[in-house]
Amino acid sequence: MIKGIIFDLDGVLVSTDEMHYLAWKRLADELQITGFTREDNRRQRGVSRMASLEIVLEKADRVYTEEEKAELAERKNNYYLELLEHMDESAVLKNVKEVLAGLKERGFLLAVGSASKNAPVILEKTGLLPYLDKIGCGLDTTKSKPDPEVFLVAARKLELSPGQCLVVEDSAAGIEAAAAGGMKSLGVGPFYRLLHADYEAPMLCEVQNWDEILK
Ligand code: G6P
Ligand code: MG
Repeated sequence: MIKGIIFDLDGVLVSTDEMHYLAWKRLADELQITGFTREDNRRQRGVSRMASLEIVLEKADRVYTEEEKAELAERKNNYYLELLEHMDESAVLKNVKEVLAGLKERGFLLAVGSASKNAPVILEKTGLLPYLDKIGCGLDTTKSKPDPEVFLVAARKLELSPGQCLVVEDSAAGIEAAAAGGMKSLGVGPFYRLLHADYEAPMLCEVQNWDEILK
């Protein structure tokens, strides 16, 4: 029986995906990597900052040292933080707060399970913190989705077993991570049909069958 729900953040609760894309694109342009596309960016959904950088560098015409890579990842994050400065409640996806409040009222424990190290800042700026019981994020983990680490951390913080948790995700890596961690998944977002989740809906606010999913 499901007792807790672990939500990915970017693309599930908030719309940060375009900002991630713009920040990576700015870096790619500076490095004169011309082939970085939105399709590459789709593969960056859900995966850590360093793993996302590797996707950008696939099309580079030279090899970068670990030290250079660390500098590039930090540079991208600074561009992303510039964009986040203007972030407020309007970045929360449609009816997310209402859905979270409804699930809380029904007695479910709610957590975030995000690869992002910026998750606490984003939750604060968007006013989502009061809706959540626990936060698992990139600051708690060493392995990137599709490794289940961040979801297992979130489940542990909720004091639930993996089988008692449902994961809500918009990325293929995240759905894979949920399965690897022994958790059922609900796939949402623009690519929901491609995710092979246990349940699916275009957006959180469009889920019709919560009773079936949470049984
Ligand atoms: C989320 C996004 C990814 C991003 C990752 C790390 O999972 O979907 O695109 O790479 O977080 O984010 P960060 O904010 O730590 O760079
Ligand atoms: Mg996501």
